[in-house]
Amino acid sequence: MTGNPQSEGSRQRARTTATPRQVAFDVLRAVTDDDAYANLLLPTRLRRARLTGADAAFATELTYGTLRRRGHYDRVIALAAGRAIDAIDPVALDVLRLGAHQLLGMSTPAHAAVGETVELTRRARAARTTGFVNAVLRTISRDDDVTWTTRLLEGVTDPDERDGIAHAHPAWIVHALREALTREGRGSELDDLLLADNTAPRVTLVALPGLCEPEALGDRTPYSTRGARSAAGDPASHPLVAAGAARVQDEGSQLAALVLSRARAVVPGERWLDLCAGPGGKAALLAAEARAGGAVLVANEVVPARAELVRKALHTIDPAVEVRVGDGRVIGVLEPETYDRILLDAPCTGLGALRRRPEARWRKTALDVAPLASLQAELLRSALAALKPGGVLAYVTCSPHPDETTAIVDDLLVERPAEVAPLDARAVLAGIARTPLDLGELAHGAAQLWPHRHGTDAMFIQLLTRR
Ligand SMILES: C[S@@+](CC[C@H](N)C(=O)[O-])C[C@H]1O[C@@H](n2cnc3c(N)ncnc32)[C@H](O)[C@@H]1O
Repeated sequence: MTGNPQSEGSRQRARTTATPRQVAFDVLRAVTDDDAYANLLLPTRLRRARLTGADAAFATELTYGTLRRRGHYDRVIALAAGRAIDAIDPVALDVLRLGAHQLLGMSTPAHAAVGETVELTRRARAARTTGFVNAVLRTISRDDDVTWTTRLLEGVTDPDERDGIAHAHPAWIVHALREALTREGRGSELDDLLLADNTAPRVTLVALPGLCEPEALGDRTPYSTRGARSAAGDPASHPLVAAGAARVQDEGSQLAALVLSRARAVVPGERWLDLCAGPGGKAALLAAEARAGGAVLVANEVVPARAELVRKALHTIDPAVEVRVGDGRVIGVLEPETYDRILLDAPCTGLGALRRRPEARWRKTALDVAPLASLQAELLRSALAALKPGGVLAYVTCSPHPDETTAIVDDLLVERPAEVAPLDARAVLAGIARTPLDLGELAHGAAQLWPHRHGTDAMFIQLLTRR
């Protein structure tokens, strides 16, 4: 005790303030142990640790980069340690992942990457693994990423496996992305797509019609008439975002909502439904569009907590919008032929948003696809039953996986040729985009957006009408 309150205070702060590596490590542990979402957890942890500027940027790159390339680093670690990663203590493994990313994915000097990262094992009360972690990191530090990748590729002949190793994607995802691009005649773009998946997206904002104009937010985005790029820093601190007149929203999501609201002129009194609305991003834009055109929007969501987020999202735009908690699969029975326009932004694997959710690619498995595809098919049939004859239905996913996109639509069109017909989403997009969109050829007028080609999430958009 010095008796000096100020120095005691600074010591207290020093004890409670975490370093960027500690913050990244804590987030990684929460992702590994508790299935946390890094993009939700990291901002809170940065604030709590009072990290800003270069420290915050370092912690962010360390966290997201490590998580994005986790499978790659696990292969390198297994090779360097001479044992399967299952045989490595989970705490030590997360420390090794962080060290591997600094050594192979960032230009951190080896002495800092090894020394300061090894320190984390002590803090995590895993001191017994310190020697092991130190030895493995030193082995990794002897070669660069290209050399390690070449080593990992030795003897691997399957193209999906090879591209997966080269670009840190699971092979089943590479396979799905390759199929999706090939179906458009753009298979040669696969490398660009995988690279784009490993690059943090720039934050875009939507200016909600009637509440603000995109020029007030920053530079315009190329395609959406409502989009603008967020300046550096926390987008939530922009006064128009804080006031609820603008929101953070991917440009592809904006286009998906606008394709429905602008597919044809709005007739006042139209009834619109957002069937799977949580957390409310597209519902917010639809609500503003509906209000401007004199239409009435209903937002439905099956998870109560997510319906609450929709309520919050819509509050400043139109408090009169009805937000319901309900299973979209029964809406067609409960409200047949009720709506003029329906958005079905279906629950999906999210393979189109891998840039945003760094850990997602390693958490999902190929087994997730089939149950989601059957839910999507059910929701689509229910939405169709709730659509008025002549109405417009937008089937949207933030996944380009063929089983969740074209296969779902093809099955419906084959099953109900007399009841449902495709509308040309590409033509609608061409009519509303600020600059021409380079879209590949897909059946039934469907549009597929891509991170590498459009700088958006990989949104799939199919418009349908009921005969
Ligand atoms: C892709 S998200 C929608 C994103 C939203 N449109 C937005 O832009 O913010 C899909 C949503 O569907 C919801 N969902 C899943 N199954 C559902 C069901 N049977 N009925 C209604 N909603 C469902 C999920 O909880 C999730 O919130």
